[in-house]
Amino acid sequence: MIKDLQNILSRSAKSAKKSAIRELLKLTQRPEIISFAGGLPAPESFPLEILKKLSVEVLEKEGTAACQYSMTEGDNGLRKALIEKYRKDEGLELAMENIIITTSSQQALDFLGRVLVDPGDAVVCGLPTYLGGLQAFAAYGAEMHGIKLDDKGMRADLLKAKLEELKKAGKKPKFIYTVPDFQNPAGITMPESRRKEILALAHEYDVLVVEDSPYRELRFEGKNPPMLYKLDGKEQVVVLGTFSKIFVPGFRIGWIIGNKDLLDKFVTVKQAADLCTSSFVQKIGALYLNQGHFDANLQRVIAMYREKRDAMLAALKEHMPKGVSWTCPEGGLFLFVTLPDGMDAEKLFPKAIEKNVAYVLGSVFHCDGSGRDTMRLNFSFAPKEKNIEGIRRLAEVIKEAMKG
Ligand SMILES: Cc1ncc(COP(=O)(O)O)c(C=O)c1O
Repeated sequence: MIKDLQNILSRSAKSAKKSAIRELLKLTQRPEIISFAGGLPAPESFPLEILKKLSVEVLEKEGTAACQYSMTEGDNGLRKALIEKYRKDEGLELAMENIIITTSSQQALDFLGRVLVDPGDAVVCGLPTYLGGLQAFAAYGAEMHGIKLDDKGMRADLLKAKLEELKKAGKKPKFIYTVPDFQNPAGITMPESRRKEILALAHEYDVLVVEDSPYRELRFEGKNPPMLYKLDGKEQVVVLGTFSKIFVPGFRIGWIIGNKDLLDKFVTVKQAADLCTSSFVQKIGALYLNQGHFDANLQRVIAMYREKRDAMLAALKEHMPKGVSWTCPEGGLFLFVTLPDGMDAEKLFPKAIEKNVAYVLGSVFHCDGSGRDTMRLNFSFAPKEKNIEGIRRLAEVIKEAMKG
């Protein structure tokens, strides 16, 4: 290796920080640890038998095309299947030009940075918000402006104040980044009224809205509010979708829905990034949707996660001391805990590891470094019994810290 690696690194690589989540995940790989830290789907949610059958079917029927490069925009069969899914589930009438396939949503987040952000540009996001989004935008020098959430998601009054403040400073944010359904990390869903308020502000200040929604299909009870994209109806919203949490993350299939001119730019940067997403897995994905496996397996996964969430909520209620509070998500993979009296989740972390339980520090999801008294807990990955035992251990750690 050359002696002076530092000198050949780009500015962006020099400033890039390692993902706190990935580093923590390494710590939590030990088998004795009950980890609430990852954002992983349950291994038993993967429809392996169906995938075996569909893999053979794709190879038999479209073998050479599946092994070949494919269009950068994505496999037409999969795009059509997704258009049909959005028509059926969301009442959207999308044209082919309104949807492209990405190598999962993380690539779409990177593309948002690449296509829209110059160093110093303002981007507005939730406080907290998805760490992977913060990292993707930071790589392009975005200046992040966090807007606190309440139990309905991003606060509209604070968003208005921020947009006004930026306007006075002669700045216009490149976009408002939202995760409106069972938000990562807070587990909060924006009701229709809040969606409308956010959209009204986006129109007033002419700002693009990003609707990053990997968890929307994982609703355990009640009804989904309409998508921001649907409520808007003016293509001022860009939707990021992914199979990761509702099918399999290993396929790395995601998609972007939005205005044709903007998607054209994404296609141009995708050509430089990876030419195309794997043809083989896209074709399997299309069959999975078209043959009805998607809906059937999703119902199974929803029932499984509902049970795990309920077990975790019951355990929190039973074991946590007074002063600890948590969100009660109606779906998704996560809930968010607030510790009593400004207790620091980072200081607590080594003690939790000693007791073989792990979580993600809430502060990593806050672009301003706040949220030190919070933590994110995943309930989808571990078996139900481990969720219960993990919460019991975590409660012990918190009780001991309260004693001082
Ligand atoms: C809000 C959000 N967006 C995007 C992603 C990235 O997902 P993937 O790249 O697997 O599609 C995640 C993953 O946890 C997420 O929570």
